Amino acid sequence: MSAPVKPRPELGQPLSQKPSPATLELLSHRRSASAMHLGLPGPTADEMESLIQIGLRVPDHGKLGPWRIVRFTPDTKARLVERLLPLADMQADPIKAKAALRKLSTPPEALLVISKPVTGHAIPVWEQQLSASAVCQNLLIAATAMGYGANWITDWYSYDETARAILGVTEHEQVAGFIYLGTATEIALERERPNPASRTSWWQN
Ligand SMILES: Cc1cc2nc3c(=O)[nH]c(=O)nc-3n(C[C@H](O)[C@H](O)[C@H](O)COP(=O)(O)O)c2cc1C
Repeated sequence: MSAPVKPRPELGQPLSQKPSPATLELLSHRRSASAMHLGLPGPTADEMESLIQIGLRVPDHGKLGPWRIVRFTPDTKARLVERLLPLADMQADPIKAKAALRKLSTPPEALLVISKPVTGHAIPVWEQQLSASAVCQNLLIAATAMGYGANWITDWYSYDETARAILGVTEHEQVAGFIYLGTATEIALERERPNPASRTSWWQN
């Protein structure tokens, strides 16, 4: 399953965009895998490099690069879980909070995507945050295209002040999401989807 890292296009290189029916096929039935059902093997080292490269290839108004990715080894991920465990007891529902930590400990790989907006800039912070969201979605799509299961999770540890400090998230940053990665051990079933007509209208004035 291992895919070598594709070289990044050169600056200014013409990039013709070809139709990709395979991409449309993938997107039309893409589905997240349950984090609790992500097992080995996870993406290889080369695949992780490719994922990050593709993940950061997102629209970014003002070319500010208002995001960053934090990586984990199996050891540092286990240590993070250990440090978060005592905080789970302080949450409103400690049992649920501890269960949520299993979504962090179970998958073999995780990428933490942090929205890092440039404040006081003409580009609104909201737009910069949207770009971080695009990083998460790119990662989900790319991991799925590589044949892995992936899930975008925030959970309480993205918002708890002490947990944020443990994660190294600073005052002006937000956790856009943890992207959990591995091989799906269960096939996800289609979930309810909104009818496009219920979310679409024609502008009238
Ligand atoms: C920003 C964001 C945060 C999320 N956080 C959680 C979470 O903390 N816990 C959870 O169970 N699902 C969370 N989800 C939802 C999961 O990603 C869920 O698996 C996904 O919506 C399933 O839809 P899909 O199959 O179309 O990807 C989050 C989704 C988004 C976009």
